[in-house]
Amino acid sequence: GTTLKAAAERSGRYFGAAMGRDRLSDTGFLAIANREFDMMTAVNEMKPDATQPNRGQFDFRAGDAIYNWAVQRGMRVRGHTLAWHAQQPRFWATLSGGALRTAMIDHINGVMTHYRGKLAAWDVVNEAFAENGSRRSSNLQSTGNDWIEVAFRTARNADPSVKLCYNDYNIENWTYAKTQGVYNMIRDFKARGVPIDCVGLQTHFTGGSSLPGNFQTTLSSFAALGVDVALTEADVTNASASQYQGLTQACMNVPRCIGITTWGIRDSDSWRGNENPLLFDRNSNPKAAYTSVLNALNAA
Ligand code: G3I
Repeated sequence: GTTLKAAAERSGRYFGAAMGRDRLSDTGFLAIANREFDMMTAVNEMKPDATQPNRGQFDFRAGDAIYNWAVQRGMRVRGHTLAWHAQQPRFWATLSGGALRTAMIDHINGVMTHYRGKLAAWDVVNEAFAENGSRRSSNLQSTGNDWIEVAFRTARNADPSVKLCYNDYNIENWTYAKTQGVYNMIRDFKARGVPIDCVGLQTHFTGGSSLPGNFQTTLSSFAALGVDVALTEADVTNASASQYQGLTQACMNVPRCIGITTWGIRDSDSWRGNENPLLFDRNSNPKAAYTSVLNALNAA
């Protein structure tokens, strides 16, 4: 394949990117997106604060704009995200306990009903673990330790057709406590029949940290539990070509690693300031990391 998507599709995978609504008027961005990618994620537009700004009042305009653009070009869309400690509807801050739990359930039902049958996957719960492998404290966690499984059970009922994912960062290193914490939760969910289909590893390699040599072990270990895995928000400090090659190769080596998404397309799209962590430069030119990813996809 001569593009990321064509190369990924050779092995039945996808290659995705994230975009904000503002990119819908950015012709440079759209040209690359249309040429290279076959999966899209909204960076902010499908998050709880965006989709339910006021109680019971849903707003899907921004999310739908991205969805429609992508689907009209033959792409699929990953939904991001339904329950998270950040970017919550403002009214959630006034709630706790059973009332907040009910609000979370209502939110999942409201958003998933709107997108029923349309999405490839939902990040049902995002970033619920702390670095030490225990649950991250949050208002949602304070509603009871079962809030995550309640979210997944609600999600399955709301849209039985969509893959349900747990998504987090710093879970790439197999020996890291947080990775083990998430792994144990997924194992427990599978053992007890809590509906879950996939784990999203955000794959933000930051601050000079290098790709862990055991990344493939992490992917294959999650997969062995009976879930798909995906790299959902990849970016790498200074777009190290060897680290991009390594993360792509790790995915290609694991049959249940179904695709890779980068968090933006050009360095100018990135949330990571001046780290230039993406595959295209500010002038829309592919970087060395692009070639290393393309070659790793084509080698499979
Ligand atoms: O839209 C307002 C704008 O009106 C205002 O002038 C400006 C001033 O700060 O803020 C704008 O909102 C910002 C929004 O992005 C849109 O650009 C928010 O401040 C900013 O906090 C928000 O950041 C987003 C971040 O999630 C928030 O948590 C990033 O765009 C988004 O890329 C990032 O994505 C997260 C994933 O959801 C989860 N994993 C980590 C990843 C990177 O942080």
